[in-house]
Amino acid sequence: MSRFNREGAGAAGANLPTMPDAPDLGQFFTPRALIDFAFDALAAFGAEVADARVADPACGPGEWLRAALERGAAQALGADRDPAMARAWADSALAGDPRCALTVADGLAAGVLPEAACDLVVGNPPFGADLADAGPDALRELARTSRLPFPDRGDRLLVEPSQSDLRRLARYPIELLFLERFAALCRPGGWIAIILPEGVLSNARWRHVREWLLGAMTVYAVVGLPRSTFRAHGTTARTCLLLLRARAPAPDHEVALAEAESCEAPALAALLAALCAGASHVGEPPPGLLPPPLQRD
Ligand SMILES: C[S@@+](CC[C@H](N)C(=O)[O-])C[C@H]1O[C@@H](n2cnc3c(N)ncnc32)[C@H](O)[C@@H]1O
Repeated sequence: MSRFNREGAGAAGANLPTMPDAPDLGQFFTPRALIDFAFDALAAFGAEVADARVADPACGPGEWLRAALERGAAQALGADRDPAMARAWADSALAGDPRCALTVADGLAAGVLPEAACDLVVGNPPFGADLADAGPDALRELARTSRLPFPDRGDRLLVEPSQSDLRRLARYPIELLFLERFAALCRPGGWIAIILPEGVLSNARWRHVREWLLGAMTVYAVVGLPRSTFRAHGTTARTCLLLLRARAPAPDHEVALAEAESCEAPALAALLAALCAGASHVGEPPPGLLPPPLQRD
């Protein structure tokens, strides 16, 4: 599993101290052009960033929040577990911005960010890691507020988790815990942009996650990202960007499936145009949008 490439963190992440014996924090920072694409696509689907409260519970140097503020967001709330990020926020304009509240904390923990109260929840949570290094108290607390790791319990929350529940939670993929957290932070009718490993959408093991997602959320678009997206941070994992609204889908709702050939601004601008055209399109999809079957090489 690769580590945070501090040279690749951009201006906000430059000159960060090294972290000896650091836990694997899944640090792959999102290219700015992709962040802009996500906000533009959300706006095309109807999201309003101006005057919004925007949260990123695993914000890294805070580039998603910076983009939201540049688009007129009223409030930008972020958390990151890595204390080195506090230096990055201080070195950039973010820490001193009165619209911004950033905290070094576990973004999965209750009370760190306001629940069901954010207009947009955006970001690229850590992936390829789990909670093996988490303490029993943190796990117990998380077990009480998480449903996805315990699909056999339906909608019931655990009051007193057992040791086997805690072991199961510790091995559960952190990105899925964050997906549930994004949904918990978002207000009803709010919007979510989240980058996830593609296996979440295809692996038989995560079927319960997809069933939950498709029942609770309106999926507007799934955009497959090129393997090169996070190469600067040492991973070529297949990932995708999901654009969601926190409300149940209408019966006739259609999901746009797309593939980004590159994360350079011109390619993403062309893809955005295809997504916008696809929203009112009948017949063959415009270039960039995927027809069924829904697989990539
Ligand atoms: C994939 S990086 C993405 C950062 C930023 N959102 C972006 O897109 O550039 C994930 C970030 O999550 C942080 N992280 C890992 N575990 C966390 C946790 N439990 N709570 C908050 N942040 C966490 C890492 O330190 C890292 O900065």
